[in-house]
Amino acid sequence: FAPQPFENVNLLLTAGPTREAIDPVRYISNHSSGKMGFALAQAASEMGAKVTLVSGPVNLSTPLGVTRIDVDSAAEMHAAVMQHVNHQDIFIGCAAVADYRIANIATRKLKKSSSDTMTLDLVKNPDILASVANLTPKPFTVGFAAETQDVVHYAKDKLMRKKLDMIAANDVSQPELGFNADNNALCVIWDDGQQMLPTTDKYTLAKQLLSLIADKRLNE
Ligand code: C5P
Repeated sequence: FAPQPFENVNLLLTAGPTREAIDPVRYISNHSSGKMGFALAQAASEMGAKVTLVSGPVNLSTPLGVTRIDVDSAAEMHAAVMQHVNHQDIFIGCAAVADYRIANIATRKLKKSSSDTMTLDLVKNPDILASVANLTPKPFTVGFAAETQDVVHYAKDKLMRKKLDMIAANDVSQPELGFNADNNALCVIWDDGQQMLPTTDKYTLAKQLLSLIADKRLNE
């Protein structure tokens, strides 16, 4: 029988959205379903990896054999990733992490005021992917880029800026792909090459992306 591509490989990944609390009953979030990250976790596990999945709030069941850690906010996701990143061979940042959080979370439900406008102060969240990419030694680090224009241009910039080993870019302006869809298409970019993975279901795409990761990681 063929050896498993990820035998003895530890793989950590993030998936889903984050929720940034405004007060005890409200939050800011996004449309990420977590489907791409969960497909990656399932496929990686089937390819022999020991998978740890740090997930934001999603309606998906945990793939067989995968260790799942549930978090809400970007700060919690960052803490969970930093706690588990030691001894990881591969890190994939698939979560749609909120770039900002509320500066001062209200301890009581905010009341409607007489004013027609209200302002929320936001502060920047830690960049989880960049934090992992800055570790020494670091796992083979893969990011996602959801762009609506100049997809490849911005993805290449992100690869360099965040010191990633690979980036998978998807065009979220196409309504039938990306967020919450069952299908996706990716343009995968690394330091000296790129490959298009055309539209297919997220599980098939996950296996194709993981095969590329397996190849490039060994050629580093
Ligand atoms: O810069 P941008 O947010 O577009 O980069 C997207 C990539 O960075 C994704 O892989 C996402 O999971 C990761 N990211 C992160 N922490 C953040 C913001 C983005 O890990 N705070």
